[in-house]
Amino acid sequence: MPFPEGFVWGAASSGPQSEGNFHKRHQNIFDYWYATEPTAFYQEVGPDLTSNFYNDYTNDLKLMKKAGIKALRLSIQWSRLIENFETGDVNQEGAVFYQKLFTAMKVAGVEPYVNLFHFDMPFELQHQYGGWQSKHVVDLFEKYAQRAFELYGGQIDHWFTFNEPKVILDGQYLYQFHYPNIVDGPTAVQVAFDINLASAKAIAAFRKVNTNPNATIGTILNLTPAYAASDDPRDQEAARIAELWSNDMFLQPAIQGKFPSALVDLLKNDHVLWDATENELALIASNQIDELGVNYYHPFRVEAPDVSPKSLQDWMPDIYFKEYQLPGRIENVDKGWEIYPKALYDIAISMRDRFGNIPWFVSENGMGVSNEERFLDDQGMVHDDYRINFMHDHLAELLKGIEAGSNCHGYFTWTAIDNWSWKNAYRNRYGLIRNEIHTQEKTLKKSAYWFNQLSRENQLPPSNFELN
Ligand code: BG6
Repeated sequence: MPFPEGFVWGAASSGPQSEGNFHKRHQNIFDYWYATEPTAFYQEVGPDLTSNFYNDYTNDLKLMKKAGIKALRLSIQWSRLIENFETGDVNQEGAVFYQKLFTAMKVAGVEPYVNLFHFDMPFELQHQYGGWQSKHVVDLFEKYAQRAFELYGGQIDHWFTFNEPKVILDGQYLYQFHYPNIVDGPTAVQVAFDINLASAKAIAAFRKVNTNPNATIGTILNLTPAYAASDDPRDQEAARIAELWSNDMFLQPAIQGKFPSALVDLLKNDHVLWDATENELALIASNQIDELGVNYYHPFRVEAPDVSPKSLQDWMPDIYFKEYQLPGRIENVDKGWEIYPKALYDIAISMRDRFGNIPWFVSENGMGVSNEERFLDDQGMVHDDYRINFMHDHLAELLKGIEAGSNCHGYFTWTAIDNWSWKNAYRNRYGLIRNEIHTQEKTLKKSAYWFNQLSRENQLPPSNFELN
């Protein structure tokens, strides 16, 4: 079966992970963290150079075309585009960079999908106001978003407000893998609300200033379907709450304009519900997305926690569920993530049945593997059959979901060219294209040829594909 006509074959990346921080006048939280604690990053490799996209994008786009990539999701860095966060005045050099980049993408035939926030809070706003803990920062984000729409509205048809809000909570406020590494459940609850509000405010700004009739706006969520470890009602209950917290807390406001009432009741009962005004709730209720990007890597299997949530303990979402590792699972051992393609079918069906069959696409899916030098041939090509298998098996499940009527219109792999990964730096490689980071030499991997055939034929090549 072919994929539907017009299905978009793309790749995803982000500004902080690919551009390098050339000519940036402000630090984001990762720039700052690396400058103050380089040992927190794998082999002390930081975000200063990354994959040199800032200087190399013309050549990079040519390579992407060779890999069959017809659309690229990337992000504008708030800390590059805006000179004065309070007024929203732009930095000219930053503004010109993005303008030239988007023009080059159009010329190269790589459609830009532009996201406004990919984990990269400007350090000053984190330091001065506590980042997403502050409603003032929410307003500054709206200002920045509006500037971006005004500057690039004529060039861009696909806008996105956020990448993976859930990971912002997890990294910054719960499990300590993004600066400032706070552990504070109730603050994470407030941040979840504030990000939903910021997204709605950016959508409102878009509706106000957009004059491009082809332009749409969406958001990007990492969905981790919650599966109970067993039929035991306690495990089932753990999965119900995990689903509310991990997925529905962002899905429902974005698509339906409201928070899940069961989650609101639970948080209220625990005395940790967010601060929200009637006006803010009304704003969320009246600003929905046009399309959804879904990042999918792994499922979320859960069981009941060891101790009852009624025990005296600091509030964390995990008082209601405990992660469960399925015995005998297939795993990407470099990440510790179970590989479970069927969840993509489940997501497709949930979009169809629970979310009004909203237009959606896979905005990230891919496999990060360490030490890919193991798979280099004499010609210097990485034979990444594991990546081909991974994409093949996920796409086969996605296709079943599409055949069942789910409204999915694209697949973007993470990523085109190996890029910098937060704390892991260049440990795990995700690209269809290899980057020798010491020379910045970039070469196609075997998966790039497979992806090219996929994109050309709009049909799944076999996973045991061979190069001619
Ligand atoms: C997603 C992010 O969470 O997964 C990307 O949107 C990230 O920014 C990707 O790089 C892979 O995860 P990691 O931690 O291995 O880089």
